Amino acid sequence: MLVNFKEILKKAKEEKYAVPHFNINDLEWTKYILEECQELEVPVILGVSEGASKYMGGPDAIVGMVKGLIKDLNITIPVCLHVDHGQSFETCQKAIDAGFTSVMIDASKKELEENIRITKQVVDYAHERGVSVEAEVGHIGGTEDNITSSATNARLEECIEIYEKTGIDALAPALGSVHGFYKGEPNLDFERMKLISETLPIPLVLHGGSGIPDEMIQKAISCGTSKINVNTELQAAWATAVREFLKEDEEAYDPRKVIGSGEKKMKEAIREKVRLFGTKK
Ligand code: 13P
Repeated sequence: MLVNFKEILKKAKEEKYAVPHFNINDLEWTKYILEECQELEVPVILGVSEGASKYMGGPDAIVGMVKGLIKDLNITIPVCLHVDHGQSFETCQKAIDAGFTSVMIDASKKELEENIRITKQVVDYAHERGVSVEAEVGHIGGTEDNITSSATNARLEECIEIYEKTGIDALAPALGSVHGFYKGEPNLDFERMKLISETLPIPLVLHGGSGIPDEMIQKAISCGTSKINVNTELQAAWATAVREFLKEDEEAYDPRKVIGSGEKKMKEAIREKVRLFGTKK
């Protein structure tokens, strides 16, 4: 069932667990994530970055693929199809028109006033169509889609302002997490996370969920984080298995065997995250 994230994250915030946001890269990834989450009977958010959307052909192709898989695989868990780091109103609009149930508008590189203006435009369009909206304040650093940027932490006043002026459904405040692998220990501002979560009635999102030690993930959940985004760790688990497979079988050429050799490791990584996040039905 395709849903927006409002109900699933509201419940997660109330009951103090997190719903996984796994980025999808192709048909196989989408299939493995859906199958494993169905097996575990937990809701899931499928995140699609602009780069991944382009890679897979575009929003219409993705909506068709996800709806088709849900039907053919008898997926009955709540599935949210979400734009990850949409850079403009137009990107979000196109995805919503194609049938995405949720979007993140990321205008965090712009001044706050401009971020609020664009976010509000997206919220107005999305809410009229039953689509949920996530926004970002401060700036999450690291490398994603081959773009590297530096981090700026969010301030409480900015979070209040964007929430009050736009009516967003979830907020990703940059508080020290980065995309991609961490160099050294992550340095997350849990105190501010808790303060923001207690001040705003909406769920918080943690980006850069790969490579954060388990205790820190659990602390983030106890400080009000209800959606955790993971991409790199699944990619790494898959790539390690595929590399091993190709080393063992140098003659392999069937893409189903090559790509599929990463399925088991990827599903194990998904299961591990769901366990760690304490995700409930
Ligand atoms: P990682 O690639 O670090 O897991 O981050 C994913 C993410 O935050 C997507 O928005």
